[in-house]
Amino acid sequence: MVNRVNMAFGKYILYELNGAAKLAGDGFDPNVKLIKTFDSIKGNKLGITQESMDRVLSKNSDLFLCFDGDMPLGMMWGHRGSCYIRGPGIPLLYDEGTVYWFWIFTLPEARGKNVFKRLTNSFFHHYKGAKNFVALVDPRNTIMRNQINKLGFIENKLYTYAKLGTNSLVFEKSVMAQQSSFHFESGNRHHLPVI
Ligand SMILES: CC(C)(COP(=O)(O)OP(=O)(O)OC[C@H]1O[C@@H](n2cnc3c(N)ncnc32)[C@H](O)[C@@H]1OP(=O)(O)O)[C@@H](O)C(=O)NCCC(=O)NCCS
Repeated sequence: MVNRVNMAFGKYILYELNGAAKLAGDGFDPNVKLIKTFDSIKGNKLGITQESMDRVLSKNSDLFLCFDGDMPLGMMWGHRGSCYIRGPGIPLLYDEGTVYWFWIFTLPEARGKNVFKRLTNSFFHHYKGAKNFVALVDPRNTIMRNQINKLGFIENKLYTYAKLGTNSLVFEKSVMAQQSSFHFESGNRHHLPVI
């Protein structure tokens, strides 16, 4: 993705998984916690802000953190139902049976030590009743693409976007149906929770 002033363009693959009962595992990892308040994040090196928590957590979202003692090493977030992805300006329109999986991150110094795996096990355990999962992945992110393929997600759509200010021109190509369309998004026109 390239950013100049308030212009952005890039690509995302929309991955989908129908049902995740087989990923639910035995339970929540002991090192993972569901976080509800900003105060409970000590030595926050993950870059989570009070503003992002207030904006996102009040709107049907969950924040999962993996800890070493009281130090958070990695995070992932989930959101039930529709939302507007502010970066590319893409609305995701789903019912509350669908969970959007986002902001997946392990601190560089903690990578390769199963932080993502612990978070993922807890995430799918928490959402074991959900009927559908979606995630947007940059096509260049081979580590994440390998992981998400292993979990059983399939590539459903390819988005190519150009965003100027709050307006986006989005080219959407369906992988399965070989269909494509352009749509213009004038900001958060569906008035969705913003992510
Ligand atoms: C992708 C990311 C979350 C993985 O986190 P992590 O805590 O290091 O992952 P884990 O230690 O749990 O390892 C999970 C798997 O990824 C693999 N992996 C981790 N780092 C890797 C690397 N640098 N190269 C190749 N594979 C790697 C592990 O080998 C493991 O694979 P396995 O399933 O074959 O055992 C982390 O690299 C990251 O934060 N990247 C930047 C942000 C990002 O890309 N987020 C995803 C946006 S959609």
